[in-house]
Amino acid sequence: MTITEWENHSVVLSKSFGGVGLVKHFAVIGDPIAHSLSPLMHNAGYKALNLAADYQKFQVSPEDLQEAVFGLKALGFSGWNVTVPHKETILPFLDELTEEAVRAGAVNTVKVDKGRLIGHNTDGSGFVRSLQEHMELDECKQIVILGAGGAAKGIAMALAPFGAQLCFMNRTPERGAELVEKILEGGGQARQEPWGRGEWLAQADCVIQTTSIGLKKEEYPFSLVGIRPGTLVVDIIFNPWETPFLHSAKAMGCKTVNGIDMLLYQGVNAWEFWLEDKAPLESMRKALYQALAV
Ligand code: ATR
Repeated sequence: MTITEWENHSVVLSKSFGGVGLVKHFAVIGDPIAHSLSPLMHNAGYKALNLAADYQKFQVSPEDLQEAVFGLKALGFSGWNVTVPHKETILPFLDELTEEAVRAGAVNTVKVDKGRLIGHNTDGSGFVRSLQEHMELDECKQIVILGAGGAAKGIAMALAPFGAQLCFMNRTPERGAELVEKILEGGGQARQEPWGRGEWLAQADCVIQTTSIGLKKEEYPFSLVGIRPGTLVVDIIFNPWETPFLHSAKAMGCKTVNGIDMLLYQGVNAWEFWLEDKAPLESMRKALYQALAV
């Protein structure tokens, strides 16, 4: 594109936000951040709707977090996503939290609203939306969650209001017990089963793998023996596209889903929180899937 073409393009784009030269800026901050697919997904969405907006990624180390947050605000960013390791440590620098952020105890989306920093969480609602593409959550009675770390907590807090019994299984039982207590305190249903036992699988409508085992390319220390064919099995990892866990679930006749749509829908929900308008879901999905060459 020549400079003149770019200028004309920018003028057309910026009219979408009510004024020539008005461009909205968004970003994601984390450490590490190099592999984040969020810029690609959001920028594809802006392009599809001809919006005057851009989305960048910034590596921010824990000791620079406060300066980065105030820097983004000073530079006029409209909002940003927050990823590992800042989702909890950013809380003291924000002016307000949404209900979802309070429930999760973590923030993955910040919006600048009349100079105030509003912390929100779309991880849980994004996971729920991705699951609803495959099952009726209201009819689900039993959900098995493997793991009890940060990811499991976000997912469990978002699933609990749908009424299913959440059955946790974690290597360190103390962490599982803490999560069960939290869900029960909030009025949900939860219990924990011992790590390594398979009988409970026969009653599950859905099994969700949230541990970081697949990322570390370690062997999954649990077996799916006993699971009913047709059960929905989810692994929140999407790289590799099909983890050995999902591969064995498929071989047992289960429906399998990886974590890519969880990433997609947390982005879609962040977009809709920032721009208060429907996000171009299919353009964002296409960009993600293309980047992963599927
Ligand atoms: P995240 O935010 O990605 O969930 P986390 O809070 O560190 O990260 O949690 C990682 C989860 O993976 C935990 O449930 C952890 O189990 P422990 O609570 O016992 O640590 C689980 N995990 C990681 N490596 C594991 C392994 N080799 N075997 C079993 N569980 C493992």
